[in-house]
Amino acid sequence: MYTIQTLNKISLNGLELFSRDKYEIATEISNPDSIILRSFNMHDMELPQKLKAIARAGAGVNNIPVEKCTDKGIVVFNTPGANANAVKELVLAALLLSSRKISKGISWSQSLKGKGSEVPGLVEKGKSQFTGPEIKGKRLGVIGLGAIGVMVANDALSLGMDVIGYDPFISIDSAWELSSTVTKASSLEHLLSTSDYITLHAPYNSKTSGMINNESLKIMKDGVRIVNFARGGLVANKDLLDAIKSGKVACYVTDFPEEDLLGNDNIITIPHLGASTPESEENCAVMAASQLREFLEKGNVINSVNYANCELPFSGNTRIISAHENIPNMLGQITTILAENKLNIADMISKNRDKTGYTIVDIDGAISDEVVEKIKGVKGIKMVRIIKIK
Ligand SMILES: NC(=O)c1ccc[n+]([C@@H]2O[C@H](COP(=O)([O-])OP(=O)(O)OC[C@H]3O[C@@H](n4cnc5c(N)ncnc54)[C@H](O)[C@@H]3O)[C@@H](O)[C@H]2O)c1
Repeated sequence: MYTIQTLNKISLNGLELFSRDKYEIATEISNPDSIILRSFNMHDMELPQKLKAIARAGAGVNNIPVEKCTDKGIVVFNTPGANANAVKELVLAALLLSSRKISKGISWSQSLKGKGSEVPGLVEKGKSQFTGPEIKGKRLGVIGLGAIGVMVANDALSLGMDVIGYDPFISIDSAWELSSTVTKASSLEHLLSTSDYITLHAPYNSKTSGMINNESLKIMKDGVRIVNFARGGLVANKDLLDAIKSGKVACYVTDFPEEDLLGNDNIITIPHLGASTPESEENCAVMAASQLREFLEKGNVINSVNYANCELPFSGNTRIISAHENIPNMLGQITTILAENKLNIADMISKNRDKTGYTIVDIDGAISDEVVEKIKGVKGIKMVRIIKIK
């Protein structure tokens, strides 16, 4: 029986993946095998001694003490891309909002309340102040071609936009997903200087912090429209406000309102609604639960933030899983112990990522507690777990 503690309310569709005969799931559970959560802050929490895995239903993991977990061999999972469609849909809306003065027009028409039968006439007379260009035929620059950026790029093509993308670290999966009609920017400057609309989909880190600043704004086309559903910190607000004032930027739509961005006619602030859909919450829960189940039942690692992806179909009778440091001869030492104890290896895989390593070895027959203890004793080993295959 595996035990799972839920630290937040998790969508039923996710929890239903854990069959009751194999799992005990509760909000209060002492010393659980695993934890599933959304935004609960784990930093002040003592990590349960038996804890093997934490699954976060969502992308960010700053509410989880990842380094501390890595030290103890606890695998931390997230759900990249599970909310991508939700964000993409709002980005497409934001492109239109940035062009067509929809939000101003809505507020203005609401302000006509009380004008009685004059309303239709006033609408026809006043509507010209809300004219804005179509997006069809305009160039959209997509910065960051991951789960969200690729979807935005592909769907913007369907809306008739000419799309250019920039991502120096694009993954193979994203490259496969991306339409071949998207132009590959030769540099960030190439994208910035040729786009009518720019949308940000890169992560926030020390390299991307304030990437939209005086310098980058200077090379953009006059009247550019910028959409930011990635993170507020990607844009230097003061520089952006200057660019709005000078007319360099016609409109900025952001999912990250801050005091200095409010009350400006050409800035549209949305209260961080990118992933706020019931579907997205469900997708995250289902993805987190299925990855956790795969780990607990089979030892496979899919979408971990601190260990490499590592999957192996079952063979043999017993699976030995170990999380360890990424140092020479870990696999060699494990296989030597098995050979010394006359245990035959049916299949194995070992993957490293940064400072961590993860190894799965399937053997014929059973393993004794004594041999497991020997493996645990190898320098650099953080966690060993045994799964009975048949
Ligand atoms: N508004 C919301 O509610 C919401 C919801 C989900 C995600 N997000 C944010 O959206 C962003 C993208 O999310 P995702 O799921 O697509 O992530 P992802 O990891 O799938 O994609 C990010 C992409 O950015 C690329 N990248 C990294 N550094 C770059 C750089 N300097 N220039 C250009 N590209 C760079 C990476 O190679 C990767 O392909 C993240 O910042 C995330 O925090 C916001």
